[in-house]
Amino acid sequence: MQTLNVDLGDRSYPIFIGQEIIKQGLLASYIAGNQVLIVTNETVAPLYLQTLQDSIPASIKVDVVILPDGEKYKDLDHLNLIFDQLLQKRHNRTTTLIALGGGVVGDMTGFAAASYQRGVNFIQVPTTLLSQVDSSVGGKTGVNHRLGKNMIGAFHQPQCVLIDTTVLNTLPEKELSAGMAEVIKYGLIYDEAFLCYLEDHIDGLMGLDSGLLEQAIYRSCEIKAEVVAQDEKESGIRALLNLGHTFGHAIEANQGYGEWLHGEAVGAGTMMAADLSCRLGWISSMDVARVRDILSAANLPLFPPQSMTPGQFKELMSVDKKVLDGQLRLILLKGIGSAVVTSDFSIEKLHETLEAGTSLGDCC
Ligand code: NAD
Ligand code: GLY
Repeated sequence: MQTLNVDLGDRSYPIFIGQEIIKQGLLASYIAGNQVLIVTNETVAPLYLQTLQDSIPASIKVDVVILPDGEKYKDLDHLNLIFDQLLQKRHNRTTTLIALGGGVVGDMTGFAAASYQRGVNFIQVPTTLLSQVDSSVGGKTGVNHRLGKNMIGAFHQPQCVLIDTTVLNTLPEKELSAGMAEVIKYGLIYDEAFLCYLEDHIDGLMGLDSGLLEQAIYRSCEIKAEVVAQDEKESGIRALLNLGHTFGHAIEANQGYGEWLHGEAVGAGTMMAADLSCRLGWISSMDVARVRDILSAANLPLFPPQSMTPGQFKELMSVDKKVLDGQLRLILLKGIGSAVVTSDFSIEKLHETLEAGTSLGDCC
């Protein structure tokens, strides 16, 4: 087992990464009171709920909420199912919520914990690659609104994150690819050597080689922890973690949440960000080819849905959380391993990228 720390003063917490660690009872010392509510979904519950329950000491009263599975249920209506259970089972302010599932369960549980009785503890037990390398770390929690993704939420850090890499063995291949989009993101924005590692080992990683995966998860969490420690509330460097996300969120919103997986949309969005960076002369077409090759090796889409028009993109991108004073800001590449958040691009260049993306035209 490997351990990392997210350094946030009195809100610091450990991330434990290893095989079969759900079984090891590590959670017990992070449960303050004598009540927990496990939040999971109908897919993950039959796989891992019993193992998690068995790891909790008998002296602690355990309640469970099983949510329907899917991004389309990440909304205020379904968040209420968690509050209903907390109130019906008389959970008080010393309760601990435990998120067992992917990013949807993690974001909803975290937001329930942030707001129940003005804030209670929670623990992340992420079960998808995406949630293990990204959403379980850093304290962004929330739900979607009909008019925008993750628009209702709060920053609320967990007590600890328990990453059991063996659970990835039951993950559908498409979900593994979606998670790999976020792993690749860390190499592109922060660490070229890590991107080289991914390029060298992508087949083994996609084949679920446990040693390679554990290393990739560790380095991804390490980068995320470093960034979050510098900028917890995203007033600066943390925005870089959103490479490809502004384009990606537009795809998700246009297609209806859940049609395109978040990571798939991020994959196509990362290609668009690389394309625009190249059109601005910030990276070379060889760099763009590198981005395309690694995304393609991870079986990720390289283009947005062909039904989407540049006009639809612009409309949906204008509600992004990174829009400041009416000005769209994007995460773009200044090189491989180096990114900026910027509004320093012309609308014409953005339009060229959107045109190229939506008509399968030539990339830069
Ligand atoms: P998800 O939670 O929908 O999980 C994907 C699918 O895999 C679901 O069907 C789930 O039931 C299933 N699943 C989960 N674990 C499994 C396992 N071990 N075996 C078999 N099936 C399993 O999707 P996700 O990709 O994990 O997360 C996407 C969500 O995360 C989005 O809502 C996105 O907005 C959010 N997100 C949040 C942050 C953040 O910082 N908070 C960062 C990135 C993404
Ligand atoms: N996934 C982006 C962030 O946590 O900031």
